[in-house]
Amino acid sequence: MYHDYPGSLSSCNMISVVIEKYAPPGNGLGFYQDKAVFVPQTAVGDEVLVRVEKEKKRYIIGRLEEVVKPGSKRRKVPCPHYAECGGCDLLHLPYRDQLELKQEMLVQVLAGAGIQAAVNMVAAPSEFHYRHRALFRRDLETGEFGFLRRRSHQVAVVPDCLVLAQGLTNLLKKFAVSPDLPKKTTACYGLASVNGDFAAAADNGRNYQAIPGIPETVTENYGFGDLELAASGFAQANPAITRLMINDLRQYCVDAREVAELYGGSGTFSLPLATIARNLTVYESDSAAAARGRRNAARNGLENVHVVSGRVEKKALPKALDTLVVDPPRSGLQPVIIEKMVKSRAAQLIYISCNPATLARDLARLKAFSNGFTLDSLSAYDMYAGTTHLEVMAVLKR
Ligand SMILES: C[S@@+](CC[C@H](N)C(=O)[O-])C[C@H]1O[C@@H](n2cnc3c(N)ncnc32)[C@H](O)[C@@H]1O
Repeated sequence: MYHDYPGSLSSCNMISVVIEKYAPPGNGLGFYQDKAVFVPQTAVGDEVLVRVEKEKKRYIIGRLEEVVKPGSKRRKVPCPHYAECGGCDLLHLPYRDQLELKQEMLVQVLAGAGIQAAVNMVAAPSEFHYRHRALFRRDLETGEFGFLRRRSHQVAVVPDCLVLAQGLTNLLKKFAVSPDLPKKTTACYGLASVNGDFAAAADNGRNYQAIPGIPETVTENYGFGDLELAASGFAQANPAITRLMINDLRQYCVDAREVAELYGGSGTFSLPLATIARNLTVYESDSAAAARGRRNAARNGLENVHVVSGRVEKKALPKALDTLVVDPPRSGLQPVIIEKMVKSRAAQLIYISCNPATLARDLARLKAFSNGFTLDSLSAYDMYAGTTHLEVMAVLKR
């Protein structure tokens, strides 16, 4: 069956498209008449029936309605919830193809900002059950927790989610038997350690609250001592990939002595950096995370760590400085931070990013300074297999 609806799209809203390539952030791209058509959850070679969601002069955004003839790049989807659950976007592709697609997307996003770079792509040790941190939404009618459905604010309940670590599956099981939740809980952050322990924090849309009977923190260990992490604060989602990132970070910093770490969180990268540096100054705006960072350093006997609490925009960087490590939120670096870094005496900058778009923007801003940093290498880590998300580490030198 091969549908086609020639003529004006205003008279119909279904079209047939053959997917020819991929386009950021993980769409299949085909053509209808002279317009590009972007369709999520499609693979190169697919013949698909597409519902038109938005039509512009040059392009169409579509929703996959039916795979009429699967392309050779499509695999049998390993999750029964894939069509309805909005948690994953690439499960229809074999893992190797997911990596290729993400690498290509990153190269395209960087090129769009005028950055030409070879990307060293680091595969996830495991495609499934890797995810140790997640935001679960609560269905206010049934009280059940799950992920948002695709293009919807409704909740898809997925007790057997393929990407969750065992600890988070156990947390969902605990929630299934009427937990004692704080009033007005609309969502919950779950965090699991590698040894299977879990922690949670309830979200009522305004702040986080403890859940009676469920711990607020877990203890993780990435090989540099015990690290207390809180469900209400930031923690890396994939410990196996985090370990690979830490190994690479330590190699880049092998000669680092005076180090400033901006956006340090509870100390995931601080502990390994502190075993190399003479002095490590960590900046973190969340006072609870900064306090945890101090405790994590102290419990591991790292006296060379100095944690500065508050927004880094308002703080001075150390005068003696050879290496900067930054791991900002998705919004990337404020221009004032870029200026501070360029004015500092650091000879090396390691930029860890979870958002290729803001990373590309910031690399272009850094490049615009005549005495700025030049990109030396760039690695992308598949922190979130099955999704279009990536973690990137860029190494820049003066
Ligand atoms: C992506 S997380 C990285 C945390 C840490 N590197 C880790 O891996 O666990 C970003 C961190 O930056 C902190 N942050 C956000 N804006 C900040 C600012 N303006 N100044 C200092 N820290 C900030 C957040 O609280 C968060 O802990």
